[in-house]
Amino acid sequence: MPKIECHNLTKVFWIRNQSFEAIKDLNFEVDSGELVAVVGKTGCGKSTTLNVLLGLERPTHGRLAIDGKEPYKDFDFFRGKLSAVFQTDRLLPWRTVLQNATYGLEILHFPQQERVKKARYWLEKVGLTHFENAYPHELSGGMRQRVGIARAFSIDPEVLLCDEAFGHLDEVTARQLRDDFLNLIRETKKTSVFITHDIDEALELGERVLVLGKPARLLMNVQVPPATKENPTKQAEIKSRIIQAIESDGTRKE
Ligand SMILES: Nc1ncnc2c1ncn2[C@@H]1O[C@H](COP(=O)(O)OP(=O)(O)OP(=O)(O)O)[C@@H](O)[C@H]1O
Ligand SMILES: [Mg+2]
Repeated sequence: MPKIECHNLTKVFWIRNQSFEAIKDLNFEVDSGELVAVVGKTGCGKSTTLNVLLGLERPTHGRLAIDGKEPYKDFDFFRGKLSAVFQTDRLLPWRTVLQNATYGLEILHFPQQERVKKARYWLEKVGLTHFENAYPHELSGGMRQRVGIARAFSIDPEVLLCDEAFGHLDEVTARQLRDDFLNLIRETKKTSVFITHDIDEALELGERVLVLGKPARLLMNVQVPPATKENPTKQAEIKSRIIQAIESDGTRKE
């Protein structure tokens, strides 16, 4: 059974008596241990899809299940099983780096000593050991995202979700963070869904790339084996097919 199953998922928002479809008949599956990148243009419904995965939004139609259960309906079942790294760091400004990294563990009622031990382990992994007593405002954007990554991994989730986590960082910092993040994912073999609007980033990170149209539905499902990642010509060819799919979706009359 796939770890994540999304079947004919539709999400309709109501804004001042007007309905708006953010997701329309979206279908995809993610296997256990797979790292899948999701790419689509701005406003196509990527974050909404992530919110449904996290159980923060209720599907209007269709079904999204993780391990056969629906995150919105079975919210408590998923406590400690899912975690996310968001586009903005979402750190608590009044807490130190260590206190932010222990936050998820605190919610899950881990004993104090264990919380600190686990959080310190992950802060070391992301290179922030010497900053555990610093406050978020004392850190760079890249460092704050590292705290977010440590916080996400520290609860040892089954599924890790990332929403444009490196989108607002400069290219060099983003590349470094991407490499580090990828190594951690490989080391821990977590099932991961990585959302981005950057096709290069999707092709670099994903073992498979799902290309979304607007509203969110599946336009392409592309395997990216390691041999393709090492072949710039092949990668450029896939990138141009993805751009073509997204552009021709944009010109469709709905
Ligand atoms: N709570 C909400 N109420 C009403 N409309 C919403 C809500 N959340 C999202 N939308 C709308 O749904 C559409 C998809 O939004 P979403 O944030 O999922 O896009 P996105 O693909 O993540 O965009 P970006 O790449 O800019 O982050 C947008 O038009 C947005 O205005
Ligand atoms: Mg978004």
